[in-house]
Amino acid sequence: MAENGTIENGQPEKKLPQIPRPLKNLDVKYTKIFINNEFHESMSGKKFPTYNPATGGKICEVEEGDKPDIGKAVEAAKAAFQRGSPWRQMDVSSRGRLLQRLADLIERDRVILATLETMDTGKPFLHAFFIDLEGCIKTLRYFAGWADKIQGKTIPVDDTFMCFTRHEPVGVCGAIIPWNFPLLMFVWKIAPALCCGNTIVIKPAEQTPLTALHVGALVKEAGFPPGVVNIVPGYGPTVGAAIASHMDIDKVAFTGSTEVGKCIKEAASKSNLKRLTLELGGKNPCIVFADADLDLAVDCAHQGVFFNQGQCCTAASRVFVEEQVYTEFVRRSVEYARKRVIGDPLDARTEQGPQVDQKQFDKILELIESGKKEGAKLECGSGPFATKIYKIEGNISHSLGIYLIRIFGPVQSIMKFKSLEEVIKRANNTEFGLTAAVFTKNLDKTLTVASALQSGTVWINCYNAMHAQTPFGGFKMSGNGRELGEYALAEYTEVKTVTIKISQNYC
Ligand code: NAI
Ligand code: MG
Repeated sequence: MAENGTIENGQPEKKLPQIPRPLKNLDVKYTKIFINNEFHESMSGKKFPTYNPATGGKICEVEEGDKPDIGKAVEAAKAAFQRGSPWRQMDVSSRGRLLQRLADLIERDRVILATLETMDTGKPFLHAFFIDLEGCIKTLRYFAGWADKIQGKTIPVDDTFMCFTRHEPVGVCGAIIPWNFPLLMFVWKIAPALCCGNTIVIKPAEQTPLTALHVGALVKEAGFPPGVVNIVPGYGPTVGAAIASHMDIDKVAFTGSTEVGKCIKEAASKSNLKRLTLELGGKNPCIVFADADLDLAVDCAHQGVFFNQGQCCTAASRVFVEEQVYTEFVRRSVEYARKRVIGDPLDARTEQGPQVDQKQFDKILELIESGKKEGAKLECGSGPFATKIYKIEGNISHSLGIYLIRIFGPVQSIMKFKSLEEVIKRANNTEFGLTAAVFTKNLDKTLTVASALQSGTVWINCYNAMHAQTPFGGFKMSGNGRELGEYALAEYTEVKTVTIKISQNYC
C-alpha cells in the first residue's frame, strides 16, 4: 500500500464496508391492523402500548385486535383462498417472484426494520441487522425457490388404474408468534405458508408488534393480492385464542411457551381439529468432552446461552463438561461472561441488551434465587442487565429447578460428568428435546451421542448453526412438526390421491 492511500499498482484503495447504523428518531409508520392489504382501526376502538425495554419508555400505541378483528381477517383470508381468486389462479412461478420481491423490499428497508426490532425488543442493533434480518431474507428466498417445485408422485397400483398425488395448500393458516425473534418468526411462518399457496392470519406478540406491521406494508407493495397476508396485533387470550379456536382456520403454527402450546392444542381439538405445528422451546444440553477444542467449546457454549439475552429456544442452558476439563472450562467461561459488553442496544459495541420486559426479568431472578437455595454456586453476575454463571458440581439432584425449568435468560449452568453413558442419560433427562450440541474430536463419540440424544437438532463442534434449508423442531414436549427446509412443505400442504380408471393396463 502506498502512503497516498492507493495500492502500489495504481488501483484505488478498496473502502471497507461501513458498519450499518441504526436510524435516529425513527417515526413508527405502521401501527394498525392489516387486513385485505389495508390498515384498519380495531373494531373495539381499543389500542395498546408497546415499550422500548432499553429505556422503559412507550414507543407508540398499536390498534388492539380482538375476536371480531380475527373474524374479519379470516373472512379476507378465506376470500383470497377461494377457487378462482387471483391468488389461486396465479402461476406458481409468479408466486415465487412475489416472495423474492418481498425479500428485496425487506433488504431495502433493512436498517429501518433492524432499528424497529431493536427498539421493540431491546436486542443489539447489529444482531438484529446481521442475524435476524439476514435470516428473514434468506428464508424468504429459500421458500420462493420452492413455489414451483412442490410436486406429487405417480404411483404404480394394481389393476387398471392410474394414480397420482397432488400436494395442495391447506387453506387459511393461522400463526401465533413470540417476542424473542419477532420478524424472523413472522417470516418462518409466512414464507412456507405462502410458497405452498395458502393464505395467512398472523398475530405478533403483544410486546413486539412493530416489525410485522411494517412488513404488512411491504406485502402490499410487493403486489400480493388483498387478503393473502393479514396481521392482527393484540393479546394472547383474545386474538391468539380466537385464532386457535376459529372454525375456518385450517392450520395453526405456534412458537412460544409449553403452557400456551397445550391451550392451542386443546382449542384445536375442541373446534375443528385444525392441523398444528408447535415449537415450544427446550432445555438444551451442550456436552463438552475432554478431547474437545476447549477454546471453541467455551466460546460456543457462551454464545449459545447468552445470545439474544438468553431469550432463545435453542439456548445452551445445560452445559455438561467432562470432569478432566471441568475446572478449566468454568474458569474460562467466567472470564468470557465478565467480559461481555452489556448496555445500550443501539450502540455498536453492545453484545447484550435488556430482557424483553419486567415479567421475564423477574422470572429469571426468581429462578436464580431458587438455584442458589438448591445448592448451585453463583460464580459471577450482577446488575439489572444480569449476566449469571452457575457452577453445579457433583451429582445433580434432578429436582433442582434451575436444572430442569427453562430460564429463558442469560444464565449458564455448568455441570460435571464422568462417562459417556451417564451424560447421555442426563442430557435426555428432560421433558424437552429441541436442540443439543456435542464438542469432541472423536468420530465414534460424535456418532454415538448424536444418535442417542432425543433432540430435533444436534450440533457437532458448533452452536446455533441454523439454515433455511434444514428442518427445525423438537422431540417430546418441545413440540410437533418441523419448520424450515423441505420438511416444512409437508406442514403446509394436504396430499390428495387422484385415481383414474383406465380401460386397460397401459404398460
Ligand atoms: P407465550 O407462550 O404466552 O407467548 C407466545 C405467543 O402466544 C404470544 O403471541 C402470546 O400473545 C400468545 N398467547 C398467549 N396466551 C395465548 C393463548 N391463551 N392462546 C393463544 N395465544 C396465546 O409466552 P410468554 O408469556 O411471552 O413467555 C413465557 C415463557 O415462554 C418464556 O419465559 C419462555 O420460557 C417461553 N417462550 C418460548 C419461546 C420459544 O422460542 N419457544 C418464545 C417465547 C417464550
Ligand atoms: Mg416492545
